[in-house]
Amino acid sequence: MASVEVVEAKKSYGSLEVIHGVNLNVADGEFVVLVGPSGCGKSTLLRMIAGLESITSGEISIGERLVNDVLPKDRDIAMVFQNYALYPHMTVWENMAFPLKMNGVAQTEIDRRVSAAAEVLGLLPYLNRHPRHLSGGQRQRVAMGRAIVRRPKAFLFDEPLSNLDAKLRVQMRTEIKELHQRIGTTSIYVTHDQVEAMTMADRIVVMRDGIIEQVGSPLDLYDHPVNTFVAAFIGSPSINFLSGKWDRINQKLKLAEHFDVDFPATDRPSMPDEIVYGIRPEHLAISATEEGIPAQVAVVEPTGAQTQVLFKTTNKTDLTAIFSERINLNPGETVKLVPSITTGHFFDAGTGARIL
Ligand SMILES: Nc1ncnc2c1ncn2[C@@H]1O[C@H](COP(=O)(O)OP(=O)(O)O)[C@@H](O)[C@H]1O
Ligand SMILES: [Mg+2]
Repeated sequence: MASVEVVEAKKSYGSLEVIHGVNLNVADGEFVVLVGPSGCGKSTLLRMIAGLESITSGEISIGERLVNDVLPKDRDIAMVFQNYALYPHMTVWENMAFPLKMNGVAQTEIDRRVSAAAEVLGLLPYLNRHPRHLSGGQRQRVAMGRAIVRRPKAFLFDEPLSNLDAKLRVQMRTEIKELHQRIGTTSIYVTHDQVEAMTMADRIVVMRDGIIEQVGSPLDLYDHPVNTFVAAFIGSPSINFLSGKWDRINQKLKLAEHFDVDFPATDRPSMPDEIVYGIRPEHLAISATEEGIPAQVAVVEPTGAQTQVLFKTTNKTDLTAIFSERINLNPGETVKLVPSITTGHFFDAGTGARIL
């Protein structure tokens, strides 16, 4: 196992720079997820770490060894892709043993490692099958097994679950997380799916357009997003945004005709005039008084455990609320909504940055 360190890494294709000086430290044994919209540079960064892409400038170290000029096969890492690329003519056992054979590992050692991996992955009943006779999830496990037997310093995953159906994805993400808890190998996992990132990561790295927007634990990012991009990207259903004006005389944020909120901290920085107020769906409540943001019920979606309601404000802003208690609301009805917590998120409307 090993730490992975990326310092000021850049990548250009011709004159087009797609990774703009990224810094990232992954601790030994950590599970880090790179997440961001399609095209933001997740795969490129992962491939730079793997050595499958050259880096234009900067430094990459694995286990404190500078690997800029080390070939991928000598970096001692294992990649797991979404198209698991198993050999169709080989059995499960042979697929897992193959990389060891290629590296000249002794047969007894191959047997030991393949058996151990098959046991960990629940593949013992399938060792003599060919990939075409396996389910998608089983194939994914064989691909993982092929990576595990090499005892790499780190695993690099590029959207390994995106070919699977929804139910299997949920199951496999739990399996991968459990596997990581058991074997503890440093892992860097790429996905565009923020739920996958939230549920699997020790730390999440949110990327946009070739830069890192924020790094933190899942709940850090959820509770303290540094800007509107991260706030909107993390969380499902998404955070609500309301435009408000800072009232300098009363020192409050005006959100509706008869509704304003206080800035959460006593030490108020200089406030911009235009503010975006972010409030999570579970932090909206129906006002018990006449005070609040007037909102008309558009759609009511009960799921049993919770009820999700889409509202429209008078200026046609969509607001989503999640109620854990049973509520009785009908489309067309108008209520007043208030934040159920003392603080929401305050962002500068001009820059999108969080106001602290
Ligand atoms: N071989 C390449 N040549 C030119 N541009 C590329 C190449 N590979 C990736 N890119 C560009 O780099 C950017 C990042 O791509 P990628 O890392 O695949 O994004 P992601 O994995 O986050 O979806 C995209 O704009 C993509 O078009
Ligand atoms: Mg990609």
